[in-house]
Amino acid sequence: MPLPYTETVMEHFRHPRNVGRIEDADAKAVEGSPACGDMVAVYLKVDPKDLRITDIKFESYGCASNIATGSIITEMAKGKTLDEAKRITWKQASETLGGLPPIKVHCSILAVDGLRAAIENYEERHGLVKERKPTTVEFVRKRLKRVMNPMTGLDVVRTKLVKEVEVTDGTVRVVLDLPEDHQFAAAIREDIVEKLEPRWDVERVIVEFTE
Ligand code: FES
Repeated sequence: MPLPYTETVMEHFRHPRNVGRIEDADAKAVEGSPACGDMVAVYLKVDPKDLRITDIKFESYGCASNIATGSIITEMAKGKTLDEAKRITWKQASETLGGLPPIKVHCSILAVDGLRAAIENYEERHGLVKERKPTTVEFVRKRLKRVMNPMTGLDVVRTKLVKEVEVTDGTVRVVLDLPEDHQFAAAIREDIVEKLEPRWDVERVIVEFTE
């Protein structure tokens, strides 16, 4: 039986706004859903003078609910300041879409998490993080859940690619269970460095391979 989607959800699913990527983005993030394993990427252009979002795009590897929520929240976030955009909730998104089936709530949470992660990425890159929590092994593992394993479309933690994580004096060392000459090795390394290097207390990110 097809899910009871509202007309607004279907309209945003068929004609999603702000789909795509921004090549020279000021910030970006990929977020994965623990519930279904789908992913969403969000790209931002931000005016540094008033911290207003001047452009925003998203790519969804999720379902219709995720695409519709991505569409609606990017519309809601455009023109807002980072602080205002941070306060957009999945409930507001879902209400604007006329409601979502309960089993699809996690899909809209995923889209909102993607937006928040992109804002966090901007703040980290520009030293704007108010609450400076230290980068611990646990934090790194959590952050690595945003790095996709292109072989499976799931993150590198869940697919057990991360063999070891070490944090010492501003250096983060990540060991991946992958040969260095693997076709995706360079892309995964780049993604990991990009996710961790902007942290306020991280000076160096070393990614090593097991073979
Ligand atoms: Fe995965 Fe909707 S089922 S995003």
